[in-house]
Amino acid sequence: MVVMHAITVNRYGGPETLELTETEDPKLGPDSVLVRVKAAGVNPVDWKIVAGYLDSIMYVHFPLVPGWDVAGVVEAVGLDVPEFSVGDEVFGYVRKDEVQHGTYAELVDAPVRTLAHKPASLTWQQAAGVPLAGLTAWRSLARVRVAAGETVLVHAAAGGVGSFAVQIAVAQGARVIGTASERNHDFLRSLGAEPVTYGDGLVDRVRQLAPEGVDAAVDYVGGDAVAVSQELLKDRSRVASIVDPEVTRRGGHHVWVRPNSADLAELGRLCDAGKLRVHVEHALPLTEAAEAFRLSQSGRTRGKIVLEVGTR
Ligand SMILES: NC(=O)c1ccc[n+]([C@@H]2O[C@H](COP(=O)([O-])OP(=O)(O)OC[C@H]3O[C@@H](n4cnc5c(N)ncnc54)[C@H](OP(=O)(O)O)[C@@H]3O)[C@@H](O)[C@H]2O)c1
Repeated sequence: MVVMHAITVNRYGGPETLELTETEDPKLGPDSVLVRVKAAGVNPVDWKIVAGYLDSIMYVHFPLVPGWDVAGVVEAVGLDVPEFSVGDEVFGYVRKDEVQHGTYAELVDAPVRTLAHKPASLTWQQAAGVPLAGLTAWRSLARVRVAAGETVLVHAAAGGVGSFAVQIAVAQGARVIGTASERNHDFLRSLGAEPVTYGDGLVDRVRQLAPEGVDAAVDYVGGDAVAVSQELLKDRSRVASIVDPEVTRRGGHHVWVRPNSADLAELGRLCDAGKLRVHVEHALPLTEAAEAFRLSQSGRTRGKIVLEVGTR
């Protein structure tokens, strides 16, 4: 029996449920590729799944290998896969219809719809940090139709999704105002945003920078971000939230990111063009996945957390 190492979970719970185990290599479906994982990106949804928060909307099977983001090398291709060849370097947001065989592992089977060729300019760690957060930023900005010359408000601009959204909107020719705590203001400036501190008085602080208000807003944190945005928007429908489903009742857009090869390839081109930089705040070995969960749960991540996965 062929065996790989993976982080597995046998029941819903916290970081303490994560164990490094030996498990069978994944099966390779007809329209999937087997990826030898070099790095796995860590996203808040990973620990939310392990905590059971997505149980009402997704089938989750145990033992579960967490993780949806990957960068690695194609080791084998399924029966009908013209898109990729053995040896190709890829990255992807490997969300399947049911949750079980994730990317915190030495190998993962990845449907081709979840993958694109890895941007050559990025390290494995950087590439693994892009897919889920980058695609979320891309999709949420598209939902509010950001155009060149417009002003966009990005809530939680220093996090995984926010740091990509700032740079994508800047690349699209927008002016970006981003919320973060003061320790992240220089970081936001380095991405091309004008920083503002979140909390009481946020509407006034944004108005000091943009007296006419903003054209579009994206919420990556929840709380009162949608309400604050709508006080500042010229058109109240041009707000998208990735965390607050109530946004639709208020006339805005709720975004739940989908795997999308074409959009991921476009993000890769922005990376190679130097327009999208990936800040990896923590790169930990696979054995420290539980610590990666704790860091993510703190809600203070600047950019991304990534797991480095050993080679075999
Ligand atoms: N619906 C979807 O498709 C989708 C996709 C991706 C993520 N999400 C969800 O969206 C959220 C963000 O994801 P992420 O990966 O960007 O998380 P993350 O990287 O963990 O975000 C951390 C950042 O949030 C900032 N932050 C915390 N509280 C804030 C506040 N009140 N106002 C402004 N910024 C604040 C922190 O900045 P400071 O340290 O400066 O406070 C930190 O930089 C998570 O809840 C995640 O589960 C949803």
